[in-house]
Amino acid sequence: MDWSQVAWYAARASGLVAFALLTTSVCLGIVLSLKWRTLALPRFVTNEVHRFATILALVFTLFHGVALYIDPFMKFTPAEIAVPLAAHYRPLWVGLGVTAAYLMAALYASSWIQRWIGFAWWRRFHYLAFAAYLAVVVHGLGSGSDSQATWAFYIYAGSVFLVAALLAARLLSPDREGRRAFAPATVAGVGLLLLGGWAFSGPLQPGWNQTANYGHGTGSRLPAPVVASSLPLPFQSTLQGRYQRQGSAAQTALQYDTTLSGAPGGSMQVRLIGQTQTGNRLVVNDSTVVLRPSGSGPVCTGSVTQIQRSTMVAQCATQSGDQVQLQIVVQVDADGNVTGTVDGSRL
Ligand code: HEM
Repeated sequence: MDWSQVAWYAARASGLVAFALLTTSVCLGIVLSLKWRTLALPRFVTNEVHRFATILALVFTLFHGVALYIDPFMKFTPAEIAVPLAAHYRPLWVGLGVTAAYLMAALYASSWIQRWIGFAWWRRFHYLAFAAYLAVVVHGLGSGSDSQATWAFYIYAGSVFLVAALLAARLLSPDREGRRAFAPATVAGVGLLLLGGWAFSGPLQPGWNQTANYGHGTGSRLPAPVVASSLPLPFQSTLQGRYQRQGSAAQTALQYDTTLSGAPGGSMQVRLIGQTQTGNRLVVNDSTVVLRPSGSGPVCTGSVTQIQRSTMVAQCATQSGDQVQLQIVVQVDADGNVTGTVDGSRL
């Protein structure tokens, strides 16, 4: 296993652990508000575990950010990890993770200032925990490479089911005056249906990467283009680099990490994700192509649209408006060395 694989596994594992800890924290928070307690589990213990799960979720979020930063394939800059919507990869969905991380830190820190702001304001602020939780669910599904794996589906569905069941118990139990919170319960129910509808029509569908990177719903929220120049089109370059195959048969990722000689220079990464079938055949259900020209040329991001033996056809777009078709021909030797060519033309 090489460095890029370690970083990729670490980023996904730490994200999922942070999510499990956040689920624990949110569930314990609702249990605390339900005032369920036993002699074996007095309130201060539940409270301490609730706070500990939150801080641990933040620690794993930090690992998650560091793992993404050191991943040589994704090449995230510190600003992309720290600033919502700044990421070159699935900007909106990654941005929700960044926002949730800040919100989680603020919720944790709010207990330090509770005595100055008063319990009522602290409590109102604390309701934002649901926004942070929802943002993380959407972030994980929208930006994770495992969202379409069956095991990942059970993790997300199990967590949402637990939180929704506890929330229903909380909102539909009578308060001291015997009132039940039907209106918030209805809003939560509608939210749950919308979340399910979005998940099944978006991240759980093949080709989500294309949508998540440019399509409807993300493009309009991107900051104004900062790159003025455009790609020199058409171009023809030779490429060389490394190839690696990682993951299990159920979730395989093939990665081509190459540098280009001749215009536009720079580097090109291709990642194919899918299932390995008999005969080592990969059924691709998601892909990413990132072409980074040398100098100040604009980054072109997209996905593979067609694969035939050693030829891949991809489409990518730059923030300065270039729509590019790439024809990539690769040969891989037994040691994982890649050579080949890439032709770029305007779409
Ligand atoms: C600094 C803020 C964050 C950034 C920049 C960030 C970025 C990312 C990126 C780029 C991915 C895709 C990784 C891949 O599968 O290749 C991802 C996935 C994920 N993130 Fe985050 N994230 C952040 C915060 C969080 C937080 C706060 C949580 C949970 C508490 C979280 C949970 C997850 C989960 C569950 C996945 C899916 C992992 C998988 O599919 O295996 N992230 N994140």
